[in-house]
Amino acid sequence: MATTSLFNVSCSFPSIKVIDCKSYVGGLRSNVSQVRIASLPVATSQRRSLVVRASNGHAKKLGRSDAECEAAVAAGDVPEAPPVPPKPVAPAGTPVIQPLNLNRRPRRNRASPTVRAAFQETDISPANFVYPLFIHEGEEDTPIGAMPGCYRLGWRHGLVEEVAKARAVGVNSIVLFPKVPEALKNPTGDEAYNDNGLVPRTIRLLKDKYPDLIIYTDVALDPYSSDGHDGIVREDGVIMNDETVHQLCKQAVSQARAGADVVSPSDMMDGRVGAIRAALDAEGFQNVSIMSYTAKYASSFYGPFREALDSNPRFGDKKTYQMNPANYREALIEAREDEAEGADILLVKPGLPYLDIIRLLRDKSPLPIAAYQVSGEYSMIKAGGVLKMIDEEKVMMESLMCLRRAGADIILTYFALQAATYLCNQK
Ligand code: PBG
Repeated sequence: MATTSLFNVSCSFPSIKVIDCKSYVGGLRSNVSQVRIASLPVATSQRRSLVVRASNGHAKKLGRSDAECEAAVAAGDVPEAPPVPPKPVAPAGTPVIQPLNLNRRPRRNRASPTVRAAFQETDISPANFVYPLFIHEGEEDTPIGAMPGCYRLGWRHGLVEEVAKARAVGVNSIVLFPKVPEALKNPTGDEAYNDNGLVPRTIRLLKDKYPDLIIYTDVALDPYSSDGHDGIVREDGVIMNDETVHQLCKQAVSQARAGADVVSPSDMMDGRVGAIRAALDAEGFQNVSIMSYTAKYASSFYGPFREALDSNPRFGDKKTYQMNPANYREALIEAREDEAEGADILLVKPGLPYLDIIRLLRDKSPLPIAAYQVSGEYSMIKAGGVLKMIDEEKVMMESLMCLRRAGADIILTYFALQAATYLCNQK
């Protein structure tokens, strides 16, 4: 409760324009003082004494009526105002040329912070973020080596504190990723639908503490599979589609039963969205949403995540179910199926290297679009920042803005807390 009201106080704008936010505020202030430079009609003899500085605010009033002021001007007694400033001097050696004859100079609309803010096309706010959180059975928070600033959070302590921090800056949506004890993994990933497993237990705890928190869950077998794959692996290495979907339905229902708001199949099996929808409805979970990982590519940008969960495939790769990074049109096939099967949100993953896919789905589907800025994207920005090769904060905000510009409504990002804190401080 306390954290919610803190947010209301500190960050109550529905959306915040980021670029130039600081200078925007500064620009606004200096404009206000300029506006207050009143130029009043005065007798020529009095003019000198009535010169007003910008910082002084109002000019002294002479008690004249509007009609008297107008009459004075009409009679040629025009009051003094600051002169047109001199033309700024170019450095010595600047070539003297004829101006180009351009009827359009786009730079006019970028000339000042105020103008830039007025014409900014895209904005971003903490409400757009979903915060992915790693959880484990331990009591301590364990740092994840490949993801500086990220931890495997103890589900009963560290996690609850992290969620409170996120809510305080307006991030009220999270997605949970469990690190499952090795002893509980098996080839069919049955721990995935244990109603008393780590994820359902955590959902119940969070919903008890924060009933209005929106909890997304991951639906896939890899954290529970002794093979480290998202599906059941046959003897010959084939990932079995329909049998896996059967397990995923049980997993989604178990998460819904615990109180999940949005189940998110990230497994890329065919037909899983429709099957999960039917399974949820059959159990009375008509109001639980499905965010489908519609276009999930077989990407090397997932490396740090797999280290975080110790969920690397024990053999082979995920190329028979995740999409080929070379493919664009194929995303449409997935999108059409997911729409027809009843997905509520379509997700593209990874984010920044796949902006064209985000734009494609945005233009072709009326459904909300999610983008996942994945672990590798996060770690590269962090590493570049630590090495002082880039400005971490600026690159973070730019990358998130670009995902919005490409068409993402929501962004799953490990930067959610840091970026929302930045946005709130801008105000
Ligand atoms: C697994 C899953 C993965 C991610 C989210 N869910 C890894 C994978 O597909 O191998 C990756 C997220 C990230 O890299 O940040 N179903």
